[in-house]
Amino acid sequence: MFFQYKHCEQQYVFYICNNKVSLIFEYMDGIKQRINSLREELNQHNYNYYVLSKPTISDYEFDTKMKELTDLENSNPEYYDPNSPSQRVGSDLTKTFRQVEHTYPMLSLGNTYSESEVREFYDRVKKGLNDDFEIVCELKFDGTSISLTYEQGELVLASTRGDGVRGDDVTANVRTIRSIPLKLRGNDYPDRFEIRGEILMPWTVFEDLNRERAEQEETLFANPRNAASGTLKLQDPKIVASRKLDSYLYYMLGENLPADGHYENLMKAREWGFKISDAMRKCKTLEEIFDYIKYWDTERKNLPIATDGIVLKVNSLAQQRNLGYTSKFPRWAIAYKFQAEKALTRLLSVSYQVGRTGAVTPVANLKPVKLSGTTVKRASLYNEDYINQLDLHINDMVSVEKGGEIIPKITAVDASQRGVFDEKVTFAKICPECGTPLVKAEGEAIYYCPNETECPPQIKGRIEHFITRRAMNITCGPETVDHLYNAKMIKDVADLYTLRWQDVANLERWAEKSAKNLVDSIQSSVNVPYPRVLFALGIRYVGETVAKKLAVAFPDIDRLMAASLDDLMQVDEIGERIACSVKAYLSQQKNLDVIARLRTFGLQFELSEEVISQRTDKLQGLTIVISGTFEKHSRDEYKALIEQNGGKNSGSISSKTNYLLAGDNMGPAKLEKVKKLNIPIISEEDFLKMID
Ligand code: IVH
Repeated sequence: MFFQYKHCEQQYVFYICNNKVSLIFEYMDGIKQRINSLREELNQHNYNYYVLSKPTISDYEFDTKMKELTDLENSNPEYYDPNSPSQRVGSDLTKTFRQVEHTYPMLSLGNTYSESEVREFYDRVKKGLNDDFEIVCELKFDGTSISLTYEQGELVLASTRGDGVRGDDVTANVRTIRSIPLKLRGNDYPDRFEIRGEILMPWTVFEDLNRERAEQEETLFANPRNAASGTLKLQDPKIVASRKLDSYLYYMLGENLPADGHYENLMKAREWGFKISDAMRKCKTLEEIFDYIKYWDTERKNLPIATDGIVLKVNSLAQQRNLGYTSKFPRWAIAYKFQAEKALTRLLSVSYQVGRTGAVTPVANLKPVKLSGTTVKRASLYNEDYINQLDLHINDMVSVEKGGEIIPKITAVDASQRGVFDEKVTFAKICPECGTPLVKAEGEAIYYCPNETECPPQIKGRIEHFITRRAMNITCGPETVDHLYNAKMIKDVADLYTLRWQDVANLERWAEKSAKNLVDSIQSSVNVPYPRVLFALGIRYVGETVAKKLAVAFPDIDRLMAASLDDLMQVDEIGERIACSVKAYLSQQKNLDVIARLRTFGLQFELSEEVISQRTDKLQGLTIVISGTFEKHSRDEYKALIEQNGGKNSGSISSKTNYLLAGDNMGPAKLEKVKKLNIPIISEEDFLKMID
């Protein structure tokens, strides 16, 4: 709401939102200027959010600005502009997917942040209907929205929201999501209908994925929402499948739906096999609605997936039609968003962390502040672009948020409280650990310290990675590495094998028993199989899966060293980036020296006889695509069997495919394609016979 005040020939305009009053501008030529500046600002935030996936303000601040803009535009229609950010929903369209027009536009919901706005919504509905009504309360899932079309009980299309009118056809990727039925159960579903919902990445999957990415020093996903939408837009359904996405469906559309109630329709959808939330409740009174909101505001923290609010919907479809739509939102539904937990504090300094591959990450050191039960002293600043976007200065008052993110982040800076001498934050030019000038590869956002051999955190980081459970499984922690490194007893991973317990026991704080345990653990690690040794070396981009693939394709390190770039790229899932990294690692003398020393200490640099003896070349030269579900083995086991027998498993059908290994519930699109390309289809029995 706007409020104008005149004083001494000057007019002032105040804006009141969520019980807060702010002076918007001195009202001369101000309205137009304010509209323009809000449009510019919101366009930039849309770009940060949808294109860069790096929002710099919270949803709440974005919505507040958008509300201010729409209020201003509504009260000043002469400034209407079809290209205003208020006239569209953000677009996530990408070039690479086929675009499809939605049968029904994919609208979003009006957002509220206060109980009074929920009350206003309830009163509007009551007034609009002038009859009894029920409100369905649901969780607002914080993922990426999807529209699924079913014909004759089969999934025929899955599309993203895109710009609301047209979306990306991501059917191939969505088929990999196990909670989405490809064929429906029962037979009482309409011939054709759409069901909409949210694709989600569960917290545990998100944390594992980020852990893996951190190991590879790849950019981390800021929250499960970005991780889910990024995954859905991957070109390789195989990787999508490995990311274990989940779904909840919450909105059915079509001609002959089973009931007039939204709730009743979703209960039917549950019978047909869709994942429908147990948290849905039908409410009659405002009190019931507030109880629901209150309960889930705390209880949602125990859910395995992220939620960011509550959605309220009028249950009866006839009543929904009665209430209709505004130009952007349904009048029969609204989203109440939970306040992200945030606090205001001062930025004291920025420090820089150097990882094992030399990647430098900026971290904000903050005046300690309480935020959702914990004291926050540090916040992630991601990279140089993020710092510049915030226009961060030392001593700034900053807003810290703990939204879906694990590490708190700075979402806004209050520049009005900045002193004239406060210095702008500029990214470090030299490594804070060793003083070497930092480098940044063209087109990349991350700075690196190139001093691999002398920079302490890089040396210690490599050793810490080497000893982890999934690599050499040596039982000691980063403190021990630190201690041994500071005592000048280890400077690379090979030095670990030269340690004598007597020397370790002589160090301060070490007892004979723990020194012996450490040396024993190091000695037993010589039996760790070759693929894990390859992973332990810490070659950039060589995670556990890539290490396994390399070990199978080049069963000993000599063959791996002799492999050309082309040879490396022949291996399934190994592209130029990984191949170049492996080549670069194996062409540096210091790495070859470490490998040579590790070999003399007895580490495994070839696949064991047992693994090799199980390998055959029965499928040599054959590319096999797996589709559907199987009885005798899982898909992963079939994949392993193909590779173990010298074949290649591919995720998509092309003219290079030799066989399609087909199980039950195979996708109709795949079936059509193999028929077109004349590719022989084999059953699991046929396949098992082939490999004997
Ligand atoms: S109903 C026309 N229900 O929130 C109404 N949306 O801003 C269609 N969302 O785009 C949406 N949980 O991605 C609905 N239980 C829920 C939801 C939900 C999450 C998302 C959805 C939508 C956005 C609305």
